[in-house]
Amino acid sequence: MQLGPLSSLRGRCVVLTGPTGQVGRAVVRRLAGEAEIIAVARFRDSAAREQLEAAGVRCVAADLAEADLSALPEDPDAVLHFAVSKNPQADFAADLRANAEGLGRLLSRCRRAKAVLVCSSAAVYAYAGGKPVSEDAPLGDNHRSLLPTYSLSKIAAETVARFAAREFSVPVVIARLSVPYGDEGGWPWYHLLMMQAGHAVPVHPERPNTYNLLHEDDLVAHVPLLLAAASVPAATFNWGGEVVDIETWCEELGRITALEPRFEESERAIGALPLDTSRLQALGARIRVPWREGLRRMVAARNPELLRGEAAREVSAGARPRGADCRDDPG
Ligand SMILES: NC(=O)c1ccc[n+]([C@@H]2O[C@H](COP(=O)([O-])OP(=O)(O)OC[C@H]3O[C@@H](n4cnc5c(N)ncnc54)[C@H](OP(=O)(O)O)[C@@H]3O)[C@@H](O)[C@H]2O)c1
Repeated sequence: MQLGPLSSLRGRCVVLTGPTGQVGRAVVRRLAGEAEIIAVARFRDSAAREQLEAAGVRCVAADLAEADLSALPEDPDAVLHFAVSKNPQADFAADLRANAEGLGRLLSRCRRAKAVLVCSSAAVYAYAGGKPVSEDAPLGDNHRSLLPTYSLSKIAAETVARFAAREFSVPVVIARLSVPYGDEGGWPWYHLLMMQAGHAVPVHPERPNTYNLLHEDDLVAHVPLLLAAASVPAATFNWGGEVVDIETWCEELGRITALEPRFEESERAIGALPLDTSRLQALGARIRVPWREGLRRMVAARNPELLRGEAAREVSAGARPRGADCRDDPG
């Protein structure tokens, strides 16, 4: 299915899961009013549901693990799967059911979709000592120390997605996301909150702690490129932007605010996980929002009171941030 640039999702029927989460919110915010969106979540946050409905999104309240999904179309133009369960009680059975079986139930229902984007995570890779990993790198239980069920249930979900692609002949693309951030928050924003609270930011002793920062504008622009790469058997892509280490992005957050980052080395911290994104780049995916600009925009959107100096003056002058025109950019 050739969907082309984001604007070509206009008028399409899109089933989107996880619309109240960090990533799903960023996508649905831009697609609402353009595509016919059917959003799926349990909607534990009823205010979020009301906002979506006010924006013209049709909300279907369903627990993917067990609910009847017959309210969803069997043949949407696209499925964008961003729902994820991260059980704080480390309940493996519950998270495998929601993340792996839940995806299977979704794809069984929407088996005649034209293209399916399954959002996965770089957390599926084994720690590789800070070397960039490509899509065929060994898998591992990477995030066990912080989110016990996460890596295993994402690997299980990917396996279900591959099975569904073959079983139902539905084109699937699996995108292993690194560090998304922007107006909706993200890992750097949690670091900002730690800095504001005077807490040390935990970092793995093997430095630098590099990841691929991906601003939500770029993430959204990549969605149709990834959808166009969906295939049977399923295709797999690393999904991330510029390689930056935690220490450097926290220093930058300190520079644009009055906050001083402190770091604490911990063996329990997740080790560096940079991605080789050459396969993604070959699709034409570009990075339009430079990471420093993206961080400034994130702070301006979420904590403008913390900005100082030139960054604060730009916000109070209502400067239009670079990258703000990327919405319909093919990437
Ligand atoms: N955020 C990151 O830094 C990051 C990094 C790498 C990869 N990713 C991937 O990006 C995707 C989105 O992550 P996120 O951080 O945006 O997630 P999130 O903020 O935790 O949001 C999760 C979403 O899934 C919904 N959900 C959870 N359990 C559900 C269930 N059983 N049935 C139906 N809906 C359910 C939640 O709504 P309800 O609770 O109301 O159901 C919510 O809308 C995931 O695939 C994740 O693995 C995220």
